[in-house]
Amino acid sequence: MKEFRSEKPIDLSINGEIRSVLVRPGDTLLKVLRQNLGMTGTKLGCENGDCGACTVQRDGIPIKSCCTLVADVSDSEITTIEGLRGTPIQDAFVNEYGFQCGFCTPGLMMNAEALVRTVPDADNEIIREWLESNICRCTGYETIELSVKRALAEGQEN
Ligand code: FES
Ligand code: FES
Repeated sequence: MKEFRSEKPIDLSINGEIRSVLVRPGDTLLKVLRQNLGMTGTKLGCENGDCGACTVQRDGIPIKSCCTLVADVSDSEITTIEGLRGTPIQDAFVNEYGFQCGFCTPGLMMNAEALVRTVPDADNEIIREWLESNICRCTGYETIELSVKRALAEGQEN
């Protein structure tokens, strides 16, 4: 009988570094980031693809890491919230107070960074549509939208 529980080594490229981990076939990227690698900036929310707390980027595109098998991303570049340290999107969220408890913030920042990079002329409608994939229970979204607008404006200045 085939042994499905055995662990196998794989290499992951995360925030520009190669990380070697032992994984099982059913392990999600979220589980490996948090439990195997101790990268707890990526949050565990619904584990169902609905809340966006677990959002990371795969080759620059936001994905829900709770719904992604780690075995499927071994040939991709993964960016997590730890990889956005000191970036303009982080400064924008800080300067506009785009968070309260902060639980949703890593996922929102991963999503917002991709918006600013790929749709630099995004209008209000696009910003709201883009942010629909992330749920925040605290802010009412106003300061989050202001943070994204600030990052867009600063991107256009530079
Ligand atoms: S924890 Fe992944 S979408 Fe909620
Ligand atoms: S700041 Fe608390 S859930 Fe968004």
